Amino acid sequence: MILVTGGAGFIGANFVLDWLAQSDEPVVNLDKLTYAGNRENLASLHGDARHHFVHGDIGDSALVVQLLRQHQPRAVINFAAESHVDRSIHGPEDFIQTNVVGTLRLLESVRGYWGGLDAEQKAGFRFLHVSTDEVYGSLSPTDPAFTEDNPFEPNSPYSASKAASDHLVRAWHHTYGLPVLTTNCSNNYGPYHFPEKLIPLMIVNALAGKALPIYGDGQQVRDWLYVKDHCSAIRRVLEGGRVGETYNVGGWNEKPNLEIVHTVCALLDELCPRSDGKPYREQITYVKDRPGHDRRYAIDARKLERELGWRPAETFESGIRKTVQWYLSHEDWVSHVQSGAYRDWVQKQYASESAA
Ligand code: NAD
Ligand code: DAU
Repeated sequence: MILVTGGAGFIGANFVLDWLAQSDEPVVNLDKLTYAGNRENLASLHGDARHHFVHGDIGDSALVVQLLRQHQPRAVINFAAESHVDRSIHGPEDFIQTNVVGTLRLLESVRGYWGGLDAEQKAGFRFLHVSTDEVYGSLSPTDPAFTEDNPFEPNSPYSASKAASDHLVRAWHHTYGLPVLTTNCSNNYGPYHFPEKLIPLMIVNALAGKALPIYGDGQQVRDWLYVKDHCSAIRRVLEGGRVGETYNVGGWNEKPNLEIVHTVCALLDELCPRSDGKPYREQITYVKDRPGHDRRYAIDARKLERELGWRPAETFESGIRKTVQWYLSHEDWVSHVQSGAYRDWVQKQYASESAA
């Protein structure tokens, strides 16, 4: 079995759903259920004995040690993090607590468990740390895309905390021999994306007749990857990645924010036209820029292709259409997230359950 942390969030939930759609290997899913954790994302797994959800913190060493002893996973995949750049600017402390201190404690718990395994289990064990391209800093328009050899130049409290966690993971391999793997991925989009991030925010605001806030001039460039492709990359690295290595994951799909928002608006015009017949792009408003806003990210994912044969399956055109359609057909999910009702969802849905 595998232990996944942060598996009620956007990418973690997609990962758990995809994993159990293609394998019967059970998953223990440890999640603190912060505002970003939503058990409704995992509703389709209710009653599925292969999925064991545990409400808890990666920094709770006693709990993590007990889970490792009890379930004896062959791998730990660490998605748990505070993930939103704007929130990190308003309040960095939680980011340090989970992304740095939490990762440290998780590494220490896992090191103790791994040290007690027999030689064969020890050799097969993996700790896979899910990280971001933001650790590399910002590119100018003509710079080559980030490779795994780029120096770390994080610019936000979020990216600084992720960079620190990546360094800890690296050090636990070099110093203690822990068999680690790290992935550094670009911007994801797709189902279950919390509507504080650009793409889902634009979809839900557009449908609600609200403003579509573009930071600064909207010409910041991101490299967008459909979340299911990120999940397939993680599975590939877990099975075949070289221990101690880092792998960049990206969509080969650089686009300025304004173009992304225009694409979302055009899809909504087609799939769910405004009642007044006007285009959604009329709702775009330019707002104050994000402090320290990174201008451009671009990922060179050739190492992952060369070594492990991974390429994204989805094009941006197909992925963004699926994403908009998903939000249009999941009005309940959106309204529960917006009203905060998703936080009571477990109690309501599973009123008869004795454990969370
Ligand atoms: P998210 O914010 O949607 O989900 C994070 C999850 O972690 C939530 O379910 C939350 O409850 C849980 N969590 C937070 N603190 C915890 C703790 N102390 N213990 C246990 N669980 C905790 O984030 P996401 O977008 O799904 O990102 C997942 C991971 O992927 C993060 O590590 C992030 O840095 C990385 N990443 C994200 C992107 C992206 O575009 N979203 C891109 C590259 C890398
Ligand atoms: O690059 C990977 C990273 O991508 C992940 O590590 C982070 O966890 C994830 O949140 C994401 O970070 P970004 O800051 O790039 O994503 P966000 O969706 O917040 O913003 C995308 C771009 O859109 C960014 O340039 C800021 C801009 N933006 C965002 C919002 C929410 C706007 O212009 N308006 C908005 O309202």
